[in-house]
Amino acid sequence: MSSEMKLRSYDWFGKNDKMGFVHRSWLRNQGYPSDYFNGRPVIGICNTWSELTPCNGHLRDFAEVVKRGVIDAGGFPLEFPVTSLGETIMRPTTMLFRNLAAMDTEESIRANPLDGIVLLTGCDKTTPSTVMGACSVDLPTLVVPGGPMLNGRFKGECLGSGSFNWMVKEKTLVENYTAEDILEAEIGVARSAGHCMTMGTASTMACMVEALGLTLPGAAAIPAVDSRKKVLAQLSGRRIVEMVKEGMKLSKILTRQAFENAIVVNAAVGGSTNFIIHLLAIAGRIGVDLSLEDFDAIGSKIPLLVNLKPSGKYLMEDFYYAGGLPVVIKELKKYLYNDAITVNGRSIGENNQAPVCYNQDVIATIEKPLQEKAGIAVLKGNLCEQGAVIKPSAATKELMKHRGRAVVFETIEDYHTRIDDPGLDIDETCVIVLKGVGPKGYPGMPEVGNVDLPEKLLRKGVKDMIRISDGRMSGTAAGTVVLHVSPESAVGGTLAFVKDGDMIELDVENRRLQLDVSDEELKKRREAWTAPQPMATRGYVRLYIDHVQQAHLGADMDVLRGGSGSEVTRDLH
Ligand code: FES
Repeated sequence: MSSEMKLRSYDWFGKNDKMGFVHRSWLRNQGYPSDYFNGRPVIGICNTWSELTPCNGHLRDFAEVVKRGVIDAGGFPLEFPVTSLGETIMRPTTMLFRNLAAMDTEESIRANPLDGIVLLTGCDKTTPSTVMGACSVDLPTLVVPGGPMLNGRFKGECLGSGSFNWMVKEKTLVENYTAEDILEAEIGVARSAGHCMTMGTASTMACMVEALGLTLPGAAAIPAVDSRKKVLAQLSGRRIVEMVKEGMKLSKILTRQAFENAIVVNAAVGGSTNFIIHLLAIAGRIGVDLSLEDFDAIGSKIPLLVNLKPSGKYLMEDFYYAGGLPVVIKELKKYLYNDAITVNGRSIGENNQAPVCYNQDVIATIEKPLQEKAGIAVLKGNLCEQGAVIKPSAATKELMKHRGRAVVFETIEDYHTRIDDPGLDIDETCVIVLKGVGPKGYPGMPEVGNVDLPEKLLRKGVKDMIRISDGRMSGTAAGTVVLHVSPESAVGGTLAFVKDGDMIELDVENRRLQLDVSDEELKKRREAWTAPQPMATRGYVRLYIDHVQQAHLGADMDVLRGGSGSEVTRDLH
């Protein structure tokens, strides 16, 4: 540390006055020696551990390992909890609380005597929420992703967590799975600590932070229970102390180039559509100009290299043994900004020069990719004036250009009531339209866009249909699913005016999503429309409804975009 560099924590611990006494004395009830307050960088270990977030259940132990590293390097670790979001448990949807968790992270960091931050993350929203919060403070920050579970195993099959859920109805109807089978499968797909081991949203987020340069190299794919994950956690603890001494703030790493790299990598790994909404929100916090259109312009020409479920064959454990994300980054060299700097002080190109691929069936080469153009397509048209998204690698080729009759569900409850009604007028050429699942309307934009097909069509062997909504889709799901329609139906987007029997055209190649209804007729429908009542009148949910932005902006709250920095001029007195 340069002699003139003053630690931020000095303002709390460095003074020999009344307040210096107060700040030090109470902390010393935990038995810290006095030299801990004498110029050691204070590292906040921001922990999303919670028994209600099963994917992060092992992070309590991990915090201890990070602390070892911090102490190795001469720092002073202090662990603190933040709101944790358990994807499979929370109602109505964790996405409603992503911004709350980001607020909690931001204010917990800013208000405390911290010089550097390690974010311990895992389940889907725990990565973007903490990164968003940390960006608004902009201290040196490093992410330790908790790692995926071991591969799921049941009845001789390799099962992907998350992905199997979407098959339960089909397995029961078509493969005669019994209730006992399903009960046994529950634990077969959750064999160890860690997050979903498909290339679902959690794995996508882990790859995102590695591609952004926010982790030590190779962090994303190491399984949660592999001892090498703990080595990474300890080394991360050592490194964050150095980062404080080097003044390596988040904004030095999160440049426009880093965001472009993340989009390229996400396309090559076949990452979740949720990547878009979270990366847009993170860019909004750190002040990088990123738009929905960038995801298509930068990502859609990138080849698919990683053969992982939900659209491929393998799981994260296989990905790690094949060489993990470093192999992908090396293969993508010609598409990346290789000199983008990462948390270890070296560039992404320097970090990933020499990895070896041990299984080309899991990670393909750039010369022989699994698919020529992956990435996410951004659609435009009168049905989605501000855009909508589709993941072509998860869609059915034949449906990518299709014109079909709309079968409309006004709410998710309406869908559940009628979808399996034998009298429902629907066939495989129809387009399922679901309204009321956007950021304000639901509220919280749940992962319901990939609704199950009607039972009568599943029995006929129909595997996919076009589904359109203002909601999101789990990264573990697949299908020809148009998501994130913006503006959403609850604020009077065109989606609100679609009626049963209207014709809808989807043309992914030409990026078009069109409702074949005349402007005059749409005007009439708009005039007759009344906005739905907000789903909450008080509390955080009301605040969220009043301030959340539309999907094409990342669904952050307007008052949370940007940052307030790390300075707090007033003491507690
Ligand atoms: Fe936590 Fe899938 S439910 S990562």
